[in-house]
Amino acid sequence: MKLKDKVAVITGSASGIGRAIATRLHNDGAKVVIADINLEAAQKTAKELDALALQVDVTDSKSVDNMIAEAKKEYGSIDILVNNAGIHIQKLVIELTDDDWDAIQNTNSRGVFYSSRAAAKIMMRQDSGRIINIITRLGGNPFSSAYMASKSAIWGFTQCLALELAPYNVTVNAVAPGHIGPGTGMSKWFEAKAEALGQDWQTFEKNVLSSIPLGRWCSLEDVAAAVSFLASDEASFITSETINVTGGWSSYGATPQKEIFE
Ligand SMILES: NC(=O)c1ccc[n+]([C@@H]2O[C@H](COP(=O)([O-])OP(=O)(O)OC[C@H]3O[C@@H](n4cnc5c(N)ncnc54)[C@H](O)[C@@H]3O)[C@@H](O)[C@H]2O)c1
Repeated sequence: MKLKDKVAVITGSASGIGRAIATRLHNDGAKVVIADINLEAAQKTAKELDALALQVDVTDSKSVDNMIAEAKKEYGSIDILVNNAGIHIQKLVIELTDDDWDAIQNTNSRGVFYSSRAAAKIMMRQDSGRIINIITRLGGNPFSSAYMASKSAIWGFTQCLALELAPYNVTVNAVAPGHIGPGTGMSKWFEAKAEALGQDWQTFEKNVLSSIPLGRWCSLEDVAAAVSFLASDEASFITSETINVTGGWSSYGATPQKEIFE
């Protein structure tokens, strides 16, 4: 129970990685807030974890401010903020629309700014806190330019905010998952990528796994364990860092063949 009575707000935690993080922090003793754009799913997850469910759209600053205010009102503090909500639209640069670009940056970058700004004000007054941003293993990856741009922005944001909040005993770090296997909303993009590369699923999976030195998909629990560590007292001297949870994979996705551009 290393997080006993800590209050943790996790965005996008109705499902996928966010739900696994909420479950892990709950098992560590934290009071968790399941904040998601999908209220029905958030309520379902919250029920399983005896948690508070809140509807939030991280692209809307008023909605985010309300999430932080409601969580503070319910539990009295905000000790841990996990910025996990994210979306991916997988397209070649020449196919990306203005709206695709904006949707990705607004959710994955702007949303992290909004939540961090609102929580930081409370954490500074508390003189304690943890902000943990879920990014991705950064590097070249075809079909993922807008997504990578949004996550790279938060890699930089993490390091700047860490310095601003260090005098207040608030740490700010990032966790960068590698390839999460089938089972989250975002994993469907792997199926689309296999198709775009002209590979059947078995061939694609074999190629992906052979590029991961530890030879398996990253699990939701692998990511949650890194978050749990960064949220704990054991990580009190770690700030401005990124933990890659990749099994040793370094991010260079397969180069698409010229035919797909035609
Ligand atoms: N799945 C992967 O392979 C992978 C790899 C690296 C990083 N990540 C990152 O992990 C995080 C979670 O990904 P996932 O695979 O669990 O995705 P997911 O689609 O399963 O879950 C995302 C959750 O965020 C919520 N959400 C979406 N837009 C929102 C908004 N505007 N406001 C509030 N909530 C919103 C969704 O309702 C959903 O519950 C994302 O930031 C993603 O970029 C995922």
